[in-house]
Amino acid sequence: MATYRIEEITDDLFLLRVGDRITRYFEALWEIPEGVTYNAYLLKTSEGSVLIDGWKSTFVTQLIDALEYLVEPDELRYVVVNHMEPDHTGSLEEVLRWAPSAIVLAHPMTKRMMDSYPRAFERLRPVKDGETIEIGDEKLVFIHTPWLHWPETMMTWLENRRVLLSCDAFGGFGIPEGVFDDECAKEGDFLRSVRKYVVTVIGNYRSWIVKALDKLEAKGIDPEIIAPGHGLLWRGSPKKIIEYYRSLAEARPVKGKILVLYASMYGTVESMTRMLACELRKKGLKPIVYGFTDTFRPNISDILADAIDAEALVVSAPTYEAGLFPLMKYTIEEICEKAAASKRLIVLATYGWGGIAAKRIRGQLESCGFETIAVLEERALSPAGGILLQERIRELVDEILKIS
Ligand code: FEO
Repeated sequence: MATYRIEEITDDLFLLRVGDRITRYFEALWEIPEGVTYNAYLLKTSEGSVLIDGWKSTFVTQLIDALEYLVEPDELRYVVVNHMEPDHTGSLEEVLRWAPSAIVLAHPMTKRMMDSYPRAFERLRPVKDGETIEIGDEKLVFIHTPWLHWPETMMTWLENRRVLLSCDAFGGFGIPEGVFDDECAKEGDFLRSVRKYVVTVIGNYRSWIVKALDKLEAKGIDPEIIAPGHGLLWRGSPKKIIEYYRSLAEARPVKGKILVLYASMYGTVESMTRMLACELRKKGLKPIVYGFTDTFRPNISDILADAIDAEALVVSAPTYEAGLFPLMKYTIEEICEKAAASKRLIVLATYGWGGIAAKRIRGQLESCGFETIAVLEERALSPAGGILLQERIRELVDEILKIS
């Protein structure tokens, strides 16, 4: 049984949060051993209540429990759907069955996407960009923010409270102990959780993040609280998370951070790459190392989270069946889809009888903006690199630093 919590985040505005430790692969793709939360919000007013977003279908019974604790079914006037993805709308049909007079407010495109939600389709009232709804003393403004993360996505701005309900945007993975960023959370941890979410889920649409942030700024939206659909709420430093979001959208590098990525079948590539990482560290740089080996396989979601803000990439792999080692090929494809940027690339590769890997690594990554600054390709089957290889690695690092 999943646990959920209800927190009054400001007067009569409640967070309804459930922690999902069942899903291991978000969107059946991204590894999340840290789990994820689904955050819905209930606003009570003198003229009825508004539910904003919902939970994944797995937790529909708990969501109805939480609603029953707060309101009577007839009191629910509106259900706002900021985003149709089923991690937020899997519970919608059941919520509408429970609340027989609730009207759904959503982006006009949502109508086309409602086929599997017949009740929602019948009760849908599309809202235009900038449209407002007044209820009690509250004013809800709907701001269309396409591709954060689907084309029909919007945010809900509670103007009188200066609370921005942002759904996927500003959300993160993990099940934090606290509710807000200023409660018992380590900054490094929560920024990483946001970074991992942004790159994996929204990474392909990063240019739209910049457009959305500019739009919010142009509209004078300066929130006191940002309340997303996943993870922590931002109260201590909403401006800071907005600025961090912009930096991720632009793939701004952290000084000295080098993503070192290798695949090694029998230890040769691993040995070369670790020598290189060691030399980089000696020179004051900060290599973050991930290796695919016969005993360990890192999470691609974590690799992407560290690709987006690296200054440079080191990619090392063997040739495999006249091509590039398959897991590396896939990982590079995902880097190009989600974290492509104009950054420097260092390539290490090995082969037994015909070198292909280095060419393929360069070809894939150069096609999405990376610039190769050094290549070392060795005929090698043994992990015993020896003194000669070590010297070549040192020379390579010196060359890299000259170019940096
Ligand atoms: Fe959290 Fe795009 O759904």
